[in-house]
Amino acid sequence: MVLKAYRWDDGKARIFRLQDHVARMQRSAESMCLPLPDADLLAGMVTSLVAKHIDDIPAPPSSLYLRPTLIGTLENIGAAASPSTEATLFVLASPVGDYFEGGARPLKILVDDQRARSTEQLGSTKTGGNYAAALGPTLAAKAKYGTDQVLFCPNGDVQETGAANFLLISDKEVITKPLDTSFLHGMTRDSVLRLAADLGYSVSERDFTVDELMQAISTHEAALSGTAACLAPVGCLVYNGEEFSVMDGNPGPNTEKLRKALQDIQYGNAADTHNWLTEVS
Ligand SMILES: Cc1ncc(COP(=O)(O)O)c(C=O)c1O
Repeated sequence: MVLKAYRWDDGKARIFRLQDHVARMQRSAESMCLPLPDADLLAGMVTSLVAKHIDDIPAPPSSLYLRPTLIGTLENIGAAASPSTEATLFVLASPVGDYFEGGARPLKILVDDQRARSTEQLGSTKTGGNYAAALGPTLAAKAKYGTDQVLFCPNGDVQETGAANFLLISDKEVITKPLDTSFLHGMTRDSVLRLAADLGYSVSERDFTVDELMQAISTHEAALSGTAACLAPVGCLVYNGEEFSVMDGNPGPNTEKLRKALQDIQYGNAADTHNWLTEVS
């Protein structure tokens, strides 16, 4: 579970989508066969930690990064086929700055049409092993092509990168893969899709292939969504060793508009019409 708390001018903090993150962590625990953390206990741990450190939270666009973690702790060596019936739950927190300090830099992404980031069974589970699995290919692509991330598209099915969801955005529509167990159900993805619908975009949650993606980048902006970077513009795709510009290669206006719509809510500059914020004082 990774979420953020923002400190507003009124001196109070707001945690973004706390209850939804708690529910996602419970689903992840269930899929890892770990004991389910109690929802009120987990939400209470997060809010009390935020309350305790409210004065340490830097003003937006900086925030407090929160990482509740659950690890199995049953003392039972050699029990690979039976789950841990005991677990430890703790919450890490750290102030973080703006991901895009100095302006949004369009990202360069390697399109991998063979490999999956995770497995069909664990793709929607937020667990450390998934991140480790994506690291090798991401570092290798960085060394070879200077890319920031790898877009995993097993058998040509466009899924997500190592730590973010992938969206195509035009003046009229937002396209992204529909929810299934192969990829992480990002809270930012869900929030952007809802705000896009509010703003009159048609939201198309549908599977699309690498071939369609390579066609779409002349008419659609591309973006990565996630808690750390919010909505980050993609300016270049590397595919089969060649570089392809996404639109004109610069951050597009629709990506900017949707990112601003989300950040306005998070920073207290727009009404929280979806009730996504939990106030902490
Ligand atoms: C693989 C993956 N996809 C998507 C996301 C975005 O999820 P969220 O928007 O909830 O941060 C993350 C975030 O860590 C991720 O690791």
